[in-house]
Formats: sequence, structure tokens, C-alpha cells
Amino acid sequence: MLRGIILAGGLGTRLYPLTKVTSKHLLPVGNEPMVFHSVKQLTTAGITDILIVTNPEYVGDFVNALGSGKDFGCEFTYRVQEEAKGIAHALALAEGFAGGSRIVVLLGDNIFETSIQHAVNDFQAQQHGARVLLKQMSDPKDLMGLGVATLNGNHIVAIEEKPKHPKSDYAVVGAYFYDASVFDIIRSVEPSARGEYEITAVNNAYIDHGELEYSLVEGRWVDAGTFDSLTEAHQILLNSSDYQ
Ligand code: G1P
Repeated sequence: MLRGIILAGGLGTRLYPLTKVTSKHLLPVGNEPMVFHSVKQLTTAGITDILIVTNPEYVGDFVNALGSGKDFGCEFTYRVQEEAKGIAHALALAEGFAGGSRIVVLLGDNIFETSIQHAVNDFQAQQHGARVLLKQMSDPKDLMGLGVATLNGNHIVAIEEKPKHPKSDYAVVGAYFYDASVFDIIRSVEPSARGEYEITAVNNAYIDHGELEYSLVEGRWVDAGTFDSLTEAHQILLNSSDYQ
């Protein structure tokens, strides 16, 4: 059975003052708090054991918004990330929850127009290793704030985090699929120049082992971390029939 992890930490400084008193992931997108979208992505794909990782300031708000999971047909577990040391650092907190199972990790500010079920199916058909989801971007400027994958045929040869000169137009979006070795890999990762344990370093370690596959995002996708992208996220969800 796959287990789901939603990473919903961070201070959302780019959305200040909307984030003055609450988490970015609880702001309205479409008709619901943003994090509902990630929850529904997982439950729609049949993943009903879900860990929410967030920072201490907001964990009570998440419990109030999501509850036990009864209303969503799933079961929530909550963990607190005390220090903002990056996505891989937040994911490390999920080791006990994962309990040796394979995991699907969603960044709670990533909004998809359509279901990621196809990628979940691809991962389930895969024997071992990891999988990322790629989205071909039309504006090269957007790539400079994301992880960017260099492809060679059907293979990812490298991922660069926030490159000044992107080598392709394929962004690595915030949906990751890992086998149980991910936690050992996280322990082997060094912090980046910005002092964070980067998820890109984890994905590059899988590439080094020849174990990183990819699927493509179907439909529109956005990282709703800025005012412009939050507006786009609203439009995507208000027009999408999948998650109303
Ligand atoms: C993170 C990842 C980046 C990925 C992005 C997707 O960036 O580091 O590789 O492309 O999420 O939303 P962040 O938004 O934390 O800067």
C-alpha cells in the first residue's frame, strides 16, 4: 500500500500579508483551502493514509481544517517541522509514518488541473526506485525558480535546482514517488548553499543509482506560492471538474 505525505510547512513570505496569521496552504483556492486539493489528489488515487507535515505555528489550524480525515474518506497523521531546513528535511520526519512502505509526496502548494492518478499507476508498475512528475513550461523565466530536468531520450540525466540558465524547459513539479530507501538517501545529502536539504539532491542521488523515472503532468499546473500564481491556481480549480 502506498502512503501519502503532504508537505505544508514554510512561512509563505512571498504571499505576505495574506500569510500574516495563517499558513499559505490554508488560503482559499477555488472554493476550498489550498491543502484540500492535495488531499483530494491522494484520495482520488486511492491513497488514504496521509501524513501532514507543517510548522508549529499552524498545526492547530490544520487539525481544525482537516480533522481526523473522516470527511475525506482518509486518515490523517500530523507532524511538526520545528526548523525550516528544506523539503528533504521535512520529508525525513515521515520515516516512522512510512514504516517501510513506498510513498507519494506532494508539496501542498502545487495545484494540478487533472488527477495525478496516471503517475501513481506508473509508480505502482515500477519495481524499485523513484519517480518525478515533469511539466513542460512555456515561459523560461518560470524555470529559474524551479527544479529543471535535463532529459536524454526516456531518461533524466540531471536535475538542477533554480538554474540561472535552464538547460531544458521541463520543470520538476512538487509530486514525488519514493521507495523505502529515500530516508537513507536523505541522511546522505549535504545542505545546499542556501542551507537547505534540497529534494533535488535526493532526486539526483536516485539518478546516480540509475533509479529515477518520470511521468508528465497532464493539463495545467502551478506552484501557488506568489500572488500571480495563486490567481492562476484559482482559475485552474474553478474551471476544473475533477476537484469540485
Ligand atoms: C520546490 C523544489 C523545486 C520544485 C518546486 C515545485 O521549490 O525545490 O525543485 O520545482 O518546489 O513547486 P520551492 O517552491 O520550495 O522553492
